[in-house]
Amino acid sequence: MDPRPDLPAPEPQHIAPETWLIPNFAPAGDGLYLPVNSMLIRGRQPVIVDTGAPLHRARWLEQVFCLVEPEDVRWIFLSHDDGDHTGGLLDVLERCRNATLVTNFFSVERLALEKPALPLQRMRWIEPGGSFDAGDRLLQLFRPPIFDGPTTRGLFDPKSGAMWIVDSFACLTPGALDAADLAADQLEQMSAMNSAVSPWHAWLDRRSYARHIDAVEALGARTVASAHGPVLRGEQLDDAFDRLRGLAGAPIIPTPGQELLDSLIAATLLEATA
Ligand SMILES: [Fe+2]
Ligand SMILES: [Fe+2]
Repeated sequence: MDPRPDLPAPEPQHIAPETWLIPNFAPAGDGLYLPVNSMLIRGRQPVIVDTGAPLHRARWLEQVFCLVEPEDVRWIFLSHDDGDHTGGLLDVLERCRNATLVTNFFSVERLALEKPALPLQRMRWIEPGGSFDAGDRLLQLFRPPIFDGPTTRGLFDPKSGAMWIVDSFACLTPGALDAADLAADQLEQMSAMNSAVSPWHAWLDRRSYARHIDAVEALGARTVASAHGPVLRGEQLDDAFDRLRGLAGAPIIPTPGQELLDSLIAATLLEATA
């Protein structure tokens, strides 16, 4: 059941050893889409990394359970409590009876305001710098360089070199899921999205923020996936980290305002009268 048959329906992508991107799109106008991704690590103890948005819930469940049997899933890593990351959370907790939810105190406090009580006995609360053992790999948590919720933690898999950097590196796309298939001017838009997600960059000290970026980069990721941007590797990944360094202390990049709203309303009225 697809609630939006007009949207492109990308298939899961194998992006690193035993690692799949679970991609979906939300319309963003002008033939562009906002990626709404999650990830699956299908090692000895499979890990679902974030659970998609409510908009894609039914399709997301199909995508994930085409790749892994629910009873085989051992871990559900929740990066943070924002709705676009918790769309399938209750479903996977119910269907994946052998899975432990990796989250943190403050995420659970915030989720308590909008979801039924989550099973505390099935959780592990892990802070940035901590890790958990998924059988054949030790997955490391870190604080991403850009985030729109205080509870946000990224995940790094040293075995595959894959990193989940959550809401950092967001970028609209005409349909490509890999940065290598996007034009340079499209990737440049990442700065505006980073600024929209984390406008506090304007008050950052350049040197102290650079130290944080350096620490994330030093984890040594070779493939970086995110919830709202393309998969980054090599030169495009280096450029993406450099763009972040440039945001420290730089003015907030304005997001669209009344002018866009007026044009959207005008287009809707035109459509209605056509
Ligand atoms: Fe978020
Ligand atoms: Fe998000």
